[in-house]
Amino acid sequence: MNEIKLINDRPIDPILCSTPKVISSTNTLCRVIQLHRFFENEKDSHRNEIVAAMIKIWNGTLVELYPTHSSSCLDMNCLDINGIKKRLESQLSETPYGAKVFEFYSEQISNTSTIQIFRKCLSMITKDLAMINMLDIQETTRGANGPTHIVSYSRFSKKQALAKQRNFVVKWTRWNEICSTYLYEIFSQKLTRENQLSPFLVPKIAAVDFERQICALSHWSHEPLEQKTTDHLRQSFHTIAGKSKRPKDAQIMLLEKINGSNMLDFIETKYELLNSEQKQALFEKMGQLAILDLWIGNTDRLIKLCYKGQYTLQAISSANFGNLMIRWDVDTDQMLELYAIDNGVDLQLISNERHKSAYRKFLNSYLDDPTPIESLAACALACMREAIQIKIQTSTPDTKKKLFAFQKDLEDLDVAKPALTKGISDMFTILKESLPAFWDGEEAVNIKNYLKENCPELLEAVSAQFEAIKK
Ligand SMILES: Nc1ncnc2c1ncn2[C@@H]1O[C@H](COP(=O)(O)OP(=O)(O)O)[C@@H](O)[C@H]1O
Ligand SMILES: [Mg+2]
Repeated sequence: MNEIKLINDRPIDPILCSTPKVISSTNTLCRVIQLHRFFENEKDSHRNEIVAAMIKIWNGTLVELYPTHSSSCLDMNCLDINGIKKRLESQLSETPYGAKVFEFYSEQISNTSTIQIFRKCLSMITKDLAMINMLDIQETTRGANGPTHIVSYSRFSKKQALAKQRNFVVKWTRWNEICSTYLYEIFSQKLTRENQLSPFLVPKIAAVDFERQICALSHWSHEPLEQKTTDHLRQSFHTIAGKSKRPKDAQIMLLEKINGSNMLDFIETKYELLNSEQKQALFEKMGQLAILDLWIGNTDRLIKLCYKGQYTLQAISSANFGNLMIRWDVDTDQMLELYAIDNGVDLQLISNERHKSAYRKFLNSYLDDPTPIESLAACALACMREAIQIKIQTSTPDTKKKLFAFQKDLEDLDVAKPALTKGISDMFTILKESLPAFWDGEEAVNIKNYLKENCPELLEAVSAQFEAIKK
């Protein structure tokens, strides 16, 4: 079977690769966030001193348990494990926060029945403490379903002398977004295959459903989780969310952290540095996405729909540049990469009978439009213009200047419009010519089963769209 494979040319964080890693990385993050919060009111420099003093004590105990002579010569059973624990506790209690930290780990420490397990526990605690100062969590709370956390940290590992850098994003979401993210990735892969293009990209993801007790890891598959593990994971993610808005949903998505900025920040900082080839690539990729957004029912990125009993393309709304991310380093020759994020569809379009039927009618009439590509390009351009205009009104003079540079290219008949049109046209050809056969073929069986199980409305909508496009 000719399965679509993931392009694996980017380093992917281990949390996206296996269920045990989802569990262990979540546990680690949860512990270290709690430790971090103990020091909330301390100045950075003071916190560093306290943490360093504590690490010295924990490490001292650890070293004591690693004899310089071969461990085979040492009778481990001779060591008085309870005596060591007591000494550790009393040394720590003389440092600020020491008693609190010992208390935090008391359950793990008291569960250590052998010296080997105790050593492992100490090693974990020293690594946790060392991580406190290397943890960076940024929170965005605009989302409808709860906060999104962008997590970066380094952690020492026994196997590597150096600390290993970890980066991922935690987002409370719904199956609709998880499934559409996978779908967008399939379209991105198809563009690469059919056109040899470098298309828009999609972050790799994993997901956990706390209600259905499953962990989704790679395309179109998931693994069951035990009740106890699920409860623990749910609790950990609630702890990670902390004081921010209470996440109300039953699913979280873990995403590859994109090493770049969202499109609005990019326009304000780097857009003016792009050459014409890079601008062409950027708008082409946006064009590829604009038609998929229309086709899947994602009205929160490049296109907007207007509903007055029937749907039409809306040319007076504002694009959402926050749902596009760009990775581009001005100092390298690396080609600019555009990522589609926040890919959920407008649920009303696929699950409310009245809207569903109006949306299908609209898509059918769109397919009959004599100039479908031009009308979509015009809509996307108008939505982008509006977004920039709104931003200009509230920006400082310096930022305004940067926004004007982008605005000028939106108007320039040689820059945004032809590239956007080419991107729409490339993707439209694939939607019409190769995707319907793919959707009906053996390759899509797993995908369809997965959608049926996790977001049947999306399966129904996508299948109906393929039927319509075949005619
Ligand atoms: N995978 C990611 N890597 C890096 N930053 C991200 C990632 N996902 C989201 N972000 C940042 O968080 C912002 C909000 O994310 P988004 O998924 O759009 O959430 P919301 O549902 O709140 O709109 C984005 O505009 C971007 O700046
Ligand atoms: Mg968003």
